Amino acid sequence: MSASVISGKVLAAQVKQEAAQRVKELRAQGVTPCLAVIMVGDNPASTAYVKGKAKDCEECGIESRVIHLPQQTTQEELLDIVDELARDAAVHGLLVQLPLPAQIDDQAVINAIPPEKDVDGFTAENVGRMVIGEDCYLPCTPAGVMAMIHSTGISVAGKQAVVVGRSNIVGKPAALLLLREHATVTICHSKTKNLAELCRSADILVAAVGRKGVITGDMVKPGAVVIDVGINRGDDGKLCGDVDYAAASAVAGAITPVPGGVGLMTRAMLMVNTVKAAVRCLPKA
Ligand code: GUN
Repeated sequence: MSASVISGKVLAAQVKQEAAQRVKELRAQGVTPCLAVIMVGDNPASTAYVKGKAKDCEECGIESRVIHLPQQTTQEELLDIVDELARDAAVHGLLVQLPLPAQIDDQAVINAIPPEKDVDGFTAENVGRMVIGEDCYLPCTPAGVMAMIHSTGISVAGKQAVVVGRSNIVGKPAALLLLREHATVTICHSKTKNLAELCRSADILVAAVGRKGVITGDMVKPGAVVIDVGINRGDDGKLCGDVDYAAASAVAGAITPVPGGVGLMTRAMLMVNTVKAAVRCLPKA
């Protein structure tokens, strides 16, 4: 039996269509949602991501501004620009593309974004709100991961979930969202001793390491839902995930492909968050 494929293409198109409908309604009420993206330097992956975000905005009817700064930008200069956009009432969502050059303290810059414009959900305030279950912007990749899990129709409550990777952007928040839905969650990382065994216990396996082939077919429990967050280049130059897709899809119940999986959902969730940010600016009834 081979796993059913959870298509990021199909799901992201649905999410974006709903966002586009909300944008239409907002525009009719006099609010044009606007996302500002700041990028520092010329990291090729970041360039591609930022282009993708602008394209999604256009498709959804969201205005986008891309502020591209040179690699040698200082933290002070960047903070000035963040501050300017923070005060600009026409900008609803504001994000700074990561990674930033070494001279800049990422978290200091992120925390300068007003929480109500933090559509990445990366500020300490939004992270804290997520931890205690208050209304907040959910970080886009983990929110996309959850939407893909939900699309399989399984109930998360009571399941064994294993998240491989503990980054602030993906692993930690994905584990929290699974916990919030009552999964029993294990977070694995580079110091984990029995990775294969733990992965094999997972009804839901989320791979967010950033290294190709870390999850082999024998690490997947038969019938498991496997979500591959990795975006890596194979030896052939092609995009691939953290999971050995051919081997894992022979064992899993459902699996996300790379490309065409989580990446597209991350982008779609950013549109959802930007709409949410613009809704806040509707005139009060
Ligand atoms: N770099 C890689 N992923 C992301 C993301 O989701 N947001 C930002 N701001 N930077 C990233």
